[in-house]
Amino acid sequence: MKTSKLFILLITLLFLNVSCKEQAENNVNVGTIDSQDSIEKKITDLLLKMTLEEKIGQMNQYNGFWDVTGPKPADGDAAMKYDHLRKGYVGSMLNVRGVKEVKAVQKIAVEETRLGIPLIIGFDVIHGYKTLSPIPLAEAASWDLEAIKKSAQVAAKESSAAGINWTFAPMVDISRDARWGRVMEGSGEDPYLGSKIAEARVQGFQGDDLSSSETIAACAKHWGGYGFAEAGRDYNTVDVGTSTLYNIIFPPFEAAANADVKTFMNSFNELNGIPATGNVFLQRDILKGNWGFKGFVVSDWGSINEMINHKFAENKKQAAKLAVIAGSDMDMESYVYVDELANLVREGVVDESLIDDAVKRILRVKFELGLFDDPYKYCNEAREAEVTESKEIKEAVLDVAKKSIVLLKNENQLLPLKKEGQKIALIGALASDKTSPLGSWRIAAEDNSAISVLEGMQSYTGNILNYVKGADLTIGKAEFSKELNINTKDKSEFAKAIETAKKADVVVMVLGEHGFQTGEARSRTDLNLPGVQQELLEAVYKVNKNIVLVLNNGRPLTIPWADEHIPAIVEAWQLGTQSGNAIAQVLYGDYNPSGKLPMSFPRSVGQVPIYYNHKNTGRPTLPAPNEVFWSHYIDESNDPLYPFGHGLSYTSFSYSNLTVNKISNDVFKVSVDLKNTGKLSGKEVIQLYIQDLFASITRPVKELKGFQLVELEPNQGKTITFNLTKKELGFYDNDGVFKLEPGEFKIYVGGSSKTDLDSSFNVE
Ligand code: NOJ
Repeated sequence: MKTSKLFILLITLLFLNVSCKEQAENNVNVGTIDSQDSIEKKITDLLLKMTLEEKIGQMNQYNGFWDVTGPKPADGDAAMKYDHLRKGYVGSMLNVRGVKEVKAVQKIAVEETRLGIPLIIGFDVIHGYKTLSPIPLAEAASWDLEAIKKSAQVAAKESSAAGINWTFAPMVDISRDARWGRVMEGSGEDPYLGSKIAEARVQGFQGDDLSSSETIAACAKHWGGYGFAEAGRDYNTVDVGTSTLYNIIFPPFEAAANADVKTFMNSFNELNGIPATGNVFLQRDILKGNWGFKGFVVSDWGSINEMINHKFAENKKQAAKLAVIAGSDMDMESYVYVDELANLVREGVVDESLIDDAVKRILRVKFELGLFDDPYKYCNEAREAEVTESKEIKEAVLDVAKKSIVLLKNENQLLPLKKEGQKIALIGALASDKTSPLGSWRIAAEDNSAISVLEGMQSYTGNILNYVKGADLTIGKAEFSKELNINTKDKSEFAKAIETAKKADVVVMVLGEHGFQTGEARSRTDLNLPGVQQELLEAVYKVNKNIVLVLNNGRPLTIPWADEHIPAIVEAWQLGTQSGNAIAQVLYGDYNPSGKLPMSFPRSVGQVPIYYNHKNTGRPTLPAPNEVFWSHYIDESNDPLYPFGHGLSYTSFSYSNLTVNKISNDVFKVSVDLKNTGKLSGKEVIQLYIQDLFASITRPVKELKGFQLVELEPNQGKTITFNLTKKELGFYDNDGVFKLEPGEFKIYVGGSSKTDLDSSFNVE
């Protein structure tokens, strides 16, 4: 470069530097902070400049002005919200989405408030934003941590391009109750699998660099015990013992905290008499104390105010006091902190140090996201326009969708379907539904944007495919916040379905739940196929027994009749945008199913809660034929219809040579030989379970403590090894102390929790 040119460049750079600095100082008063200082120093400096009201403002989160994911706020509060935004009384907004809209509110926070502190923008990016992956329960069925992580990563990519920088996910609530509609949002019944998935999802959303404009802060929710709502009724009371709390409910939350999740959300429920939002034990002692969590806790929607309904707080003022003392840092849509906290501090009821602690936590996440460096970093219109069309996102959601499908039953090798020369009848309203596969958390996705099963199957052109709906599943418009109207009467199209089925070689029936039959506030007392679907299935079965039943649902269903009569059953959940393609690829054998159930399927709703890792009782087995004095039902077996971990493949696997070697006093190496004994290549999820035979606190009959995904060609074998350490072998006592007790342990290895291939060893 010539000297003159270099000189001009230097002068320009100098000028740019000076003018940028000036701009920063004018626009955002926090620009006076030395950018080289550590985040902690920046937080302390900023805190010193803040008035009490501005601090409390950081702890206040408002819903945006259109999408509502909770009880609707009173009319006319938009004006008040804008006023509060301008005064710096709002630290975060949720349900504001899209670059244009996010920019508009961010601009107010940054340019019109005294200190210009940027907002953190939250949204329920649960299994995608516009492009949807399978519902989380389905993804859990893949047991594929890489695919799950990738799914969260692309969700972060797509949503961050729409201005969002914080997701209210992952939901890590363990649940054993399929009546609870929110099982669709979790990872099922097992704390070990749940912990691994919690970690994968947090890593996926947050990435290695939270300040990248393609990653977003995650939120472990709902802290805690929400999945144990009595009778599976959402928001209901939770009353569980300490052993379940420490060993079943807490582990996935602890795993999320260890994975450096930036936020937690507390829960609507009371836990053993104390609402989670006002629960010192949960938020201060365990989370911020024992686990050293440095992020912040957001309340659930209105949950601070709802402590009044719980009859825990007498009024808003007391609710604010209880929540802040308990460690709820941010108030989502209760309007309680913004109205009450300042007076509580002035009156000396609440110590300002509690406010400072909460504000520091919130500011820390904002700094880590890089919002102080560039509040508009998630607001790039060009990126927003491009990202949804990205090949990477489409491929990732299709990949995890295929992997999430579970083959429950396959008699006479009815599956995979032949690709040519067949007459196939496709029946069921869900088969042509392009919205329902998106599940219930699909606020940003367009209606009708999923590939239907019909479309997926139409891309295989070698067969003759005839589609008949058979019967509607729902009547009228389906909406996120409204009750669904299920068709329980209209069977006018049954005859047409029966006629079409009669002429077919194979019938594919897509039945199950509408996307809005699970999710928040969607508890059911009946887990059968809803509406007239069971009747339709039986009517078609009368004329053609060659039925492949494809289930679309968000929770375990009770399908004992289908299990007894229908030769092939495929659990395909709600698989998101690429649903139909994934299902067609599995039906036609272009993907050999490898999913395993993350939740037990009951035979009858009366068995619920039903879960594989239950305890023994004093009377666990039938003492003599026909005798009644043992722990059982007189009208149903104790076993689930399909156990946790169950899932078939188009090939078969054999397990042999299970051995355990002692490495040290509390480290054991387990090895087993796995062989593909079928004719197709396939993937197996090898599961390792332990049983601590005798302990000072009784232990479950089986506990998952390891799993691996192994792909094998026909006839190929492989030796698989696992390490069991104190971490896997120990448990929490009723004081929350982790211990490993000496004695005999049994281990089981196999392709489901029902495996009986076992061995044992002694811990000394
Ligand atoms: C209430 C739900 O319980 C929670 O999971 C969600 O994140 C918030 N609403 C915000 O939509």
